Amino acid sequence: MFTYQFRPGKSDAPVLVLLHGTGGDEFSLLPLHEALDSEATVLSIRGNVLENGAPRFFKRLAEGIYDENDLHDQGEKLADFLVTFFKENQLNLQNLVFVGYSNGANIALKLLLDRSDLFKKGILFHPMYPVKQIADQALTQSEVLVTLGTHDPIVPVTESDHVLELLESRKATVTTLWTPSHQLTYAEVEEAKNWLQKIT
Ligand code: MLT
Repeated sequence: MFTYQFRPGKSDAPVLVLLHGTGGDEFSLLPLHEALDSEATVLSIRGNVLENGAPRFFKRLAEGIYDENDLHDQGEKLADFLVTFFKENQLNLQNLVFVGYSNGANIALKLLLDRSDLFKKGILFHPMYPVKQIADQALTQSEVLVTLGTHDPIVPVTESDHVLELLESRKATVTTLWTPSHQLTYAEVEEAKNWLQKIT
């Protein structure tokens, strides 16, 4: 079970699934609702894993070193929760768009890569993916906006390039925006708003 905030929107509008960064919660990204699409439905979820009291979506052994078993288990739990929640609230999974920041972008990327049968759209703010076991499914139906930092203290450029390579080699349609660092900027939110209008 997850703790969440749910704001129903127009029936044909996107359903934005907001996933916060380490230390955030279900309220952290809520201002993006108004900024990205005020008519959208929003489901904002709190990560179930605690790291020294800081919520996140899966365990890590150190910065940039993931507990891959936990990533898998937590990814499956999140996928199951989303499928059930969408069904119970008469929402269409085809309208689902992940909006993840940092750790939230990383669990979103896990589901876009490994569960592309269910999840095909995402806005990933500053993801990284140092993971060995990745499904090799073609992502020809997937559309992803990725923002990356040229001087990101958490995600080195080589790791950002690796994320792009994972998506592009699987033939996802990828839009990119490079920003200076790891924090979320106005330019990224504007880009995300425009991207969302284009794909929905
Ligand atoms: C992660 O552990 O997912 C990344 O290092 C980003 C973060 O610190 O949240």
